[in-house]
This record gives sequence, C-alpha cells and structure tokens, in this order.
Amino acid sequence: MKGIGYEMDELTREALADVAAAGTAADLKEVEVRWLGKKGRVTALLKELSALPPEDRKARGQQLNALKREVEAAVEARGREVERLEAEAAAARERPDVTLPGTPVRAGRLHPLTIVTEEIVDLFERMGFHVLDYPEAESEFFNFDGLNIPGDHPARDMQDTFYLADGNLMRTHTSPGQVRSMRDLDPPYRAIFPGRVYRCEATDASHEHTFYQVEGIMIDRHVSVAHMLHSMMSLLEGVFRRKVEVRLRPGYFPFVEPGFELDLRCTVCEGAGCPVCKRSGWVELLPCGLVHPNVIRAGGLDPGEWEGWAFGLGLSRLVMMRYRIDDIRWLLSGDLRLVRQF
Ligand code: PHE
Repeated sequence: MKGIGYEMDELTREALADVAAAGTAADLKEVEVRWLGKKGRVTALLKELSALPPEDRKARGQQLNALKREVEAAVEARGREVERLEAEAAAARERPDVTLPGTPVRAGRLHPLTIVTEEIVDLFERMGFHVLDYPEAESEFFNFDGLNIPGDHPARDMQDTFYLADGNLMRTHTSPGQVRSMRDLDPPYRAIFPGRVYRCEATDASHEHTFYQVEGIMIDRHVSVAHMLHSMMSLLEGVFRRKVEVRLRPGYFPFVEPGFELDLRCTVCEGAGCPVCKRSGWVELLPCGLVHPNVIRAGGLDPGEWEGWAFGLGLSRLVMMRYRIDDIRWLLSGDLRLVRQF
C-alpha cells in the first residue's frame, strides 16, 4: 500500500526531474508555473488541505510546505545554471574569429615635402636657427628692390612673376625673408624660412609654377663662406643620412657677392648620368653667397658692421632627389598614390 510518504517522494522526484530538464530560462519559467503557480500542482494540493480531517491537516501541510520549499530551491539553483549555460552559448556564438582577415584601416601619411621640411627644421633648430614664416603674397620691394634686383632685371619680367591686382605679387623665392628677418630680429641671428614660391612658367617634368624653397641666413659681425658651407653640408647629410659629394661653382644673384651654386652629385645615378641630372652627374641644388651690402642696408643694418651669408635651397628638387621622384608635378598633384608610398 502506498503511504502518504511514498506519494510525497514520488511528487518530489517528479518535480525535481522537471526542473532539471529545463534547458532554458523560458523552460524553467514554465516548470515553475506548472508546480508553484496559482494553478500549479503544489498550490492545488495546498488548497485541498482544508478538506482534510483536522488530525491529518498538520502533517500534510508540513509535507506540502517542505515540497514547495524544495521545488523553489531547485528552481532557483537551476535558474543560475541555465543563466550560465546561456551566457556561455552566447559567448561561443559571438566570439570573434581572430583568423578572419580584418577590415583594413588606412592611416594618413605625411607628404614627402612635409617630411623633409620637418627634418630640416629640426636640424636647424638644433643648430640655433630661428624658423620663420613669411607671406607668400609679397611686395615688389621685399621680393625685388630690397634684394638689389633693379627695375630692369629680367627676373621682374611678367613671364616669371605672378602679379596681383593690388600691385603686389606672389613671391618668386623665399629671399624676401632676408630683408624681412633683418628688420624683425636683432643681429646677430640665424634663421631659416621654408615656404612655397611661385613662378609664371610652363610646367614640365622639372618645372612647376608652384614649388618649395628653404632660405637660410646668418647675420653676424663676421661671417665666412666656410661656415655657410658647413651649415649646408649638415643640411644635406642630415637629409640624405650619409656623406654626399658637392661642388661649389661661382653663381650670379644680385643679392649676394660673391655668389655660388652648390651642386650635389646626383643621388639617383651616383653621378653616372641620368635624366634627373640631365646626364651631367650633378644637380644644382643650393644657390648661396655672402649677402650683398645693399641688402644689408635694405634690412636696416649698417653693412660696415654686419655681414651675412644666405642660401636658397630648392626643396622640391631635394625631395625629388631623396625619394627618386622623377617628375616634379607629382608633388602637388594631390594624387594619394604618391603620398601612400612614404
Ligand atoms: N633666391 C634665389 C633663387 O630663388 C636663390 C638664392 C638664395 C641665391 C640665397 C643666393 C642666396 O633662385
């Protein structure tokens, strides 16, 4: 004969098996409702208590309450487990596959002109030079007259210079900074001014209407060609990161006396002759010289007291030599394929 204890054991086993079989939070909720809900089995049994004879009611009530607590505890424990299992399943579903190829991220690059300018600025700052920035739209005075370029000089011809409607012009070189810096700074001083310059020229592989120069100047009581050469060699060896071969030739510029052209042994062909050096093995890179007394005077200084040297580096050409770029028009082409190579 099945006693009441036996019946309770059966019920407990059945309920616990039900709970254990719930594989998801939703299943478990159903099991909980089935047993403990308002119309659940345990609830129904508890409701029947009042129909029992009073002497049985107490024992039966205790058993049912024990059952209820046991099922509640089991539901709670299973709830935690199911939650963990579901979290694990979700993590497995969402775990990134690190062997998949990534989405490419294209980083920005510096333009080669920017890279070399920054290197030159860094180099000269460490040698005690100021780094100055002067206007690209310039007056005739600073671009020409102040630089001892008389009114009938061919450089003032309309073909070479972009004139502005207001009578000013786009500077044709960075040399106006020579006069400006003498007026801005107290001598002795050293300075460079990198920047964009403009010439009204037909473009080809080695000519551009807009290009870059870096002017260097030193003003002191006594300056020497030797110190000028040293500064220019530091510049070239800093940019090329090796010994370079140069030669100094006389060169004429109205604002220097004596004037020179510093040529660089072509770094593209090592002097053997190539299109970049026009088969000569040498590239004209650094015109320079001792600042003409008239220019010192235009800068507001007494040429009896102050001397100077100056150079005008062809930065665009230097960049082309350094990176073996064979057409100057690449530099301002805006073509990202160029920039992505550096
Ligand atoms: N300004 C000259 C040019 O653009 C170069 C130069 C600069 C020459 C300084 C001598 C001294 O051609």
